[in-house]
Amino acid sequence: MRSVEVRLHRDFAIGATDPRLFGAFLEHLGRCIYGGIFEPGHPTADAQGFRGDVMALVRQLAPTIMRYPGGNFVSGYNWEDGVGPVGERPRRLDLAWMSTETNQFGTNEFIDWCRMANIEPMLAVNLGTRGADAARNMVEYCNHPGGTTLSDLRRKHGWEKPHGVKFWCLGNEMDGPWQMEAKTATEYGRVAHESAKMMKWIDPSLELAGCGSSGRRMPTFGSWEDTVLEHTFDHVEYISLHTYLNNYDSDTPAFLASCDLMDSFIDEVVAIADAVAARRRSSKRIMLSFDEWNIWYRTRRNRAARIKEGWPVAPPILEEIYNVEDALAFGGCCISLLNHADRVTAACLAQLVNVIAPIMTETGGPAWRQTIFHPFAHFSRFGRGRVLRTEIDSPTYSANYNDPNGPQDVFFPMPAVPYLKLAAVHDQKAGQLNVFALNRSLTEELPLRLHAAGFAKLDVKQALQLCDADLQAVNTKDAPDRVAPKPLAAVRTAGDRLEATLPPASWNVIQLNVGANS
Ligand code: AHR
Repeated sequence: MRSVEVRLHRDFAIGATDPRLFGAFLEHLGRCIYGGIFEPGHPTADAQGFRGDVMALVRQLAPTIMRYPGGNFVSGYNWEDGVGPVGERPRRLDLAWMSTETNQFGTNEFIDWCRMANIEPMLAVNLGTRGADAARNMVEYCNHPGGTTLSDLRRKHGWEKPHGVKFWCLGNEMDGPWQMEAKTATEYGRVAHESAKMMKWIDPSLELAGCGSSGRRMPTFGSWEDTVLEHTFDHVEYISLHTYLNNYDSDTPAFLASCDLMDSFIDEVVAIADAVAARRRSSKRIMLSFDEWNIWYRTRRNRAARIKEGWPVAPPILEEIYNVEDALAFGGCCISLLNHADRVTAACLAQLVNVIAPIMTETGGPAWRQTIFHPFAHFSRFGRGRVLRTEIDSPTYSANYNDPNGPQDVFFPMPAVPYLKLAAVHDQKAGQLNVFALNRSLTEELPLRLHAAGFAKLDVKQALQLCDADLQAVNTKDAPDRVAPKPLAAVRTAGDRLEATLPPASWNVIQLNVGANS
């Protein structure tokens, strides 16, 4: 293949990555909490029942913010069920995942786990079966210092200091008919507005995210954001987006192209949010919270299938096993998020453990890293800094991506997909330029020529690749490192220029020393 030319300049930046861009998600769903992060009696569990082996992997993965407790689950959740003496907490039917929720883990345990992991907590309130009153009570319980019934209840429960949770989601996917008490955009816009108003009256420092569309292919996408923001514009800082990519059709070139649809989705939501601002002659800019994103298609289930299972506790559901091609498409999503650092200032990989997750566990047994663990860890560890604008001249291919809506195929023609997808992040403090590059050609090496103008000298600090002759290869309990990053050999630098040969179907990370404060 002919070489790909990339040009960037040190002074031309899209924006700096917000630390919240590197978040993840814990839902009361399957074995995400129970048997995931929390398993009293596990050989590595501490006194609170937090698994030490999972915590060690979480630290390696390095997520920065954690969304909780759902997800679909939150739309039927009574937050009061999850606080207070554990032995007195109710068991409830969870209609989101047709499971029994024991409430052995709740908000206070979540906060403790986050503090231990050095992760910012992000809480969601139930705007499905409940509303503004439950939302404001939850804020008072969590964030008010004391002297009221609810804040003193928290203190009585053993948490003397307020939790100080800043980031709150106003419900979850309220546009989706699968949601408990799904709403029209107007119904949701009103309840989100009133909830936000009251929540901020209690704690004006809150940052709130309104629900955007649960996917770009939702029939209401576009008009939903417009109406919801008309109602909530003055009370929220963020609008949310969710995307799950798939390879249902075993069309890997289209699958690897599909992350580009995240770029389109982001651009479109920015346009709508800014149009709402324009109608109000407002200079306020609503930021985007991409608070669910991942690959997910093998383990999708419907309620009819789940109901036959008889309301199990923490069943092993949505336990997607990720292979090499999933890791590549996933890496493409990381690049899309980086390249929109100016407007996507929060994002959450859905989810963290067992449920469509980078970390897998065996209940009572070990924990290991799935293939997607590696690009996320690179993204989080090396994605801090100023994302630079890039001009990329790459050969392209055409793809037709299918994102089915139930049994209905929905095709997205993509006539010119560049083989190379790339982001470059300048970490001024560390004096590094970190290049993330995805070669989407399944058969050909990509000769990369990058000119980093404005940098005196590039020196390779580290170059890694994730690729494998077998795109279906996976990590398992018995072979946990079957798929892992290896050194990328063919990288040469001279002055402000770099040349590298990217293997077919590969995720590559090149860290360059550029001199501190340069
Ligand atoms: O992450 C799994 C589910 O996907 C979440 O509960 C829901 O918000 C989305 O539909």
